[in-house]
Amino acid sequence: MKLAIIGHGYVGLVTAAVFADLGNTVWCVGRTPEKIEALKNGISPFYEPGLEEVVKKNVVAKRLIFTLSYSDAVRDAEIIFICVGTPSLANGEADLSSVFAAAGEIGKNLSGYAVVACKSTVPVGTNREVEKVINAVKLKNVQFDIASCPEFLREGTALHDTLNPDRIVIGADTQKAKDALLRLHEPIDGRFVITTIETAEMIKYAANTILATKISFANAVSFLCEKVGADVEKVMEGIGLDKRIGRQFLRAGVGYGGSCFPKDVKALIAMTKKYRTEGGLFEAVEKINKLSHEHFVEKVRKFFKGDLKNKRLAVLGLAFKPDTDDMRDAPSVPVIKDLVKLGARVFAYDPKAEVNAKRVLADIPIVYVSSVYEACKGSDAVLVLTEWNEFKQLDLIKMKKLLKNPVVFDGRNIYEPENMKKLGFKYFGTGRN
Ligand SMILES: NC(=O)c1ccc[n+]([C@@H]2O[C@H](COP(=O)([O-])OP(=O)(O)OC[C@H]3O[C@@H](n4cnc5c(N)ncnc54)[C@H](O)[C@@H]3O)[C@@H](O)[C@H]2O)c1
Repeated sequence: MKLAIIGHGYVGLVTAAVFADLGNTVWCVGRTPEKIEALKNGISPFYEPGLEEVVKKNVVAKRLIFTLSYSDAVRDAEIIFICVGTPSLANGEADLSSVFAAAGEIGKNLSGYAVVACKSTVPVGTNREVEKVINAVKLKNVQFDIASCPEFLREGTALHDTLNPDRIVIGADTQKAKDALLRLHEPIDGRFVITTIETAEMIKYAANTILATKISFANAVSFLCEKVGADVEKVMEGIGLDKRIGRQFLRAGVGYGGSCFPKDVKALIAMTKKYRTEGGLFEAVEKINKLSHEHFVEKVRKFFKGDLKNKRLAVLGLAFKPDTDDMRDAPSVPVIKDLVKLGARVFAYDPKAEVNAKRVLADIPIVYVSSVYEACKGSDAVLVLTEWNEFKQLDLIKMKKLLKNPVVFDGRNIYEPENMKKLGFKYFGTGRN
């Protein structure tokens, strides 16, 4: 099939690479000439394990073509995926300007029947608006259908997730659109949920919000665990083994972040306000997440008796989660800002996210170092903010020797408290001590 993908971010580029690898001819549209030139040489604008290899292979095979031209991409495409960003506006609603801009360009360039499917996460009703935008500019005799195909890939495991999805959601009005999308997904093993456009749009917000809810639930329980002397990890294991609940995402720590959970919870809250339904549960999820950052900072502040002036802190991990360089809404950002405001000197190390961190934290004085041990040298404490595998396998004895004070604040519970204490650390986990 000929496909057009609008946007070459995490969703667009991974979708383009995977469908090209499955034998389709995929045209991927971008707006930035330098990024398109780099992509033509197989260079990804972001880090995602294994992605560059698949991109390179399919560029060479001429199945994956990058372009600035909507006209080249959209002409004769059977399916067009909108994969542009939908960040939060100041009022929490999703900013849909990129989606509508893309829809306008698609409309102007449609040459024959195509399915215009939105993979971007958009509030209920958006795809109907996309249809109007296209109708307003397209040639009269050209037919198209809209569809909602929300994306569920996770950064860090995006290729695997796209090829092995738990489910593929297709929301469409016509059988023709459903058939085209089913044909495209035929080689992918996954359960299909075929539904209406509105339901498909809602599934995505509900999915991300229940995952964020599990994290905030674990954090709310962890606050209490610290007071009563319980171990949140064991509590979550104890409840997560119940098949009705499940262990995944019941993770206490410094809070959720990334390009999806924070903005999608906000957008769902905005939808409850718009339609005047009860949004208290979702508001609590957001509030607890913010408290999780604050609680972590407070623990550090308290340990140093309120005085962080000139305390040197080794921060391990900046990305919002491991195996990505994505810094969007990363918990490290509010935590580091607060610590610096309190006078701390931050020495940070992240295996992949340094470049993006320098941009996001541009106005914050941070010393970026190139290894964990360099960060630890002469530091007053270690703060774990991302659970990169390499942090789990450190030479802890070496780390202890390098530190001025053997103190660890573990915002991701990657170490065992008993072991840390045995090694002579003052160890502060999250929801367990
Ligand atoms: N990142 C994830 O893990 C993930 C997972 C599932 C769903 N989503 C959703 O998918 C959407 C995209 O997310 P992302 O992380 O890939 O975003 P991103 O910011 O990484 O990429 C967006 C891309 O769209 C491009 N773009 C914007 N307007 C354009 C236009 N008019 N024409 C051509 N290109 C344009 C940008 O240049 C960029 O390359 C969002 O709605 C997001 O919520 C993201």
